[in-house]
Amino acid sequence: MKTAIEYQYDKKEMAEFEIEQIISNKRDFTFLCGDSLEILKLIPDESVNCVVTSPPYWNLREYDVSENSNVIGNEPDYKDYVKNITAIFDEIKRILTRDGSLWLNLGDKYYNKELLGMPWRVALSLMDNGWILRNDVIWDQMKGTQSSKDRLRDVYEHIFHFVKSKKYYYAHDEIRIAPIKQPKVYNGEIVSATGVSGKKYRKQIEESQFLSEEEKKAASQALDEILQEISEGKLVDFRMTIRGEQRAFHSDNTNISGRAKELETKGFYFIKMGANGHLPSDIWRIAPEDTWRKDAHYAVFPEELLLNPIKATCHENGIVLDPFSGTGSTVVTALKLNRRGIGIDLSEYYTDLAKKRIKQVCKPLF
Ligand SMILES: C[S@@+](CC[C@H](N)C(=O)[O-])C[C@H]1O[C@@H](n2cnc3c(N)ncnc32)[C@H](O)[C@@H]1O
Repeated sequence: MKTAIEYQYDKKEMAEFEIEQIISNKRDFTFLCGDSLEILKLIPDESVNCVVTSPPYWNLREYDVSENSNVIGNEPDYKDYVKNITAIFDEIKRILTRDGSLWLNLGDKYYNKELLGMPWRVALSLMDNGWILRNDVIWDQMKGTQSSKDRLRDVYEHIFHFVKSKKYYYAHDEIRIAPIKQPKVYNGEIVSATGVSGKKYRKQIEESQFLSEEEKKAASQALDEILQEISEGKLVDFRMTIRGEQRAFHSDNTNISGRAKELETKGFYFIKMGANGHLPSDIWRIAPEDTWRKDAHYAVFPEELLLNPIKATCHENGIVLDPFSGTGSTVVTALKLNRRGIGIDLSEYYTDLAKKRIKQVCKPLF
């Protein structure tokens, strides 16, 4: 019979082998069962492109492994939770490629009637350790719980997008939302998607007391060029701001607003909406997953939530990792999007579930 140490060693060797297989492109995915911090140490530096994860929240104690001493979230003091989570993400920073991204989903917690601000406590700790925060996405789950009558319903969680260097991979064209409305013909002439013909702007330019003759000429010519782009389908909409007619969008202060500066030096500027559409906002309205809850009675990632992070911040065939993979949603979605995936979870039960699930959804791979 094997001793505990031999068994541990076998497990470590096996994990190292599996990781090597993924990194050398011989396999597409693996699910490793064990403590994240320990397994992450087996992964080489700068070898993973993207991490998308949802660690257990502090003081929920709802997972299969809640009695295990390594389980994250069971720390009696929330400050120790922040320390432990930060240590795991230090390790993740090491294994992430220089242009890699981390998407971290966290929810908050009331304790002694007080909202603790846990997501921000973790986010600030990560920033103190060198992570650069690029977005705080609000995940509006649409159906909140009403556990108390002296405060509002809770309906959102945070998804923080962190990077480790200012230059990072971001395929913005992959996640653009196509414009719903297109330019149209109105009274025999082409107008923008919201009906802007440019006539009002033309009149304002011509009658302006605030533009020099030279500036009027430049503004009118620029308006012609924009209308040309609308008629060619390169732009779907635009707005023009003209000195003395409209205010700069955010601020009139030329020291803080580039737009205000443009208005001061040139006399006008445009806001344009290209035909490629715009990027999604930082509020995502996605209902929590509830289509296959028979085996897992807890926070499963909805696939829709994973699409933008993976498409934007991991190139095709890149490696996506989830260090708290649970039922394997991140890895499953990564595979569906032609990326590779590594999942790590302390629970054997969830790891087995993830392996079964991936067999169901990725049949052609077997
Ligand atoms: C919120 S769930 C993740 C759910 C997952 N996103 C999904 O779609 O199924 C958190 C997971 O962290 C695991 N976990 C807790 N402590 C861990 C540790 N120290 N190392 C690895 N996994 C851990 C739990 O077993 C649980 O499955």
